[in-house]
Amino acid sequence: MSQGVEVSTNELVTVDRKDSIATVTINRPDKLNALNAQLVEQLGVVFRELAADDSVRGIILTGSGQKAFVAGADIAELATMTPLSGVNVSRAGQDVFRFIETMRKPVIAAINGFALGGGLELALACHIRLASENAKLGLPEVKLGIIPGYGGTVRLPRLVGRGRALELVLTGEMIDAQEAYRIGLVNHVHPQPMLLGAAEAMLKKINANGPVAVALAIEAVDHGMHATTEDALRLESNLFGLLAATSDMKEGMSAFLEKRQAGFEGR
Ligand code: COA
Repeated sequence: MSQGVEVSTNELVTVDRKDSIATVTINRPDKLNALNAQLVEQLGVVFRELAADDSVRGIILTGSGQKAFVAGADIAELATMTPLSGVNVSRAGQDVFRFIETMRKPVIAAINGFALGGGLELALACHIRLASENAKLGLPEVKLGIIPGYGGTVRLPRLVGRGRALELVLTGEMIDAQEAYRIGLVNHVHPQPMLLGAAEAMLKKINANGPVAVALAIEAVDHGMHATTEDALRLESNLFGLLAATSDMKEGMSAFLEKRQAGFEGR
């Protein structure tokens, strides 16, 4: 296994690459990794870079330190917002989060502590969520007199159902990792020292599969979440048929029939 390589580091977001997995760390521990405008912008730059980098097959997103994934949007910054800047701040975050959600490479949120407000919304935009035992999750915006603005009102009900989402949005209360697991907000809970290893192990399993199939599966599920059943089924069959044009399909099926490990090339 190769050593981790720091490919792009700046104050607020770091990227560490090992084999085909990139770990993106939000790096503002003194403010519990709260998202200010600069950080959101850098996150967008980093994810666009990783999307275009063929050597990266999967991404882990986490927060620096042992206390927080992201404790929300930066309240000091939000405090000065006007109606117009509020719309712009919300849209800027939504655009970056939507980019992450529609990336054709799996993105796993490793929630290593507080995931509040914009932090939970960021985790919601990832494809899969794993949490450490000390994680606390919530959308406390109403306690500040605002509502979630980075997609929380849209993605949370789709993930955990309308009633549970509204309970979290309206009370603003935090839940712990076990409760988040119980309601399907996170897929698994791990002791904190094991969290990144668990995320890496999951990505390795995904990365052993056909890369084009993985990319199109993400697209089918994302589209299916928002489309009519008819449209979603049509896209699924078209993508299903498209995969018959890949050498990965031939390789995957030959490997099964020949009782050997498949060697996918992403073509
Ligand atoms: N925005 C800006 N700064 C934040 C922040 C946020 N969302 N969350 C934490 N911080 C800062 C604190 O102001 C503090 O800074 P300081 O040391 O300069 O005073 C630092 O991070 C540490 O946080 P602190 O509150 O001292 O830690 P704690 O362990 O006592 O409490 C929380 C942890 C997460 C419960 C608490 O920080 C909190 O409630 N944060 C805001 C959560 C929130 O409402 N998020 C949604 C925003 S829309």
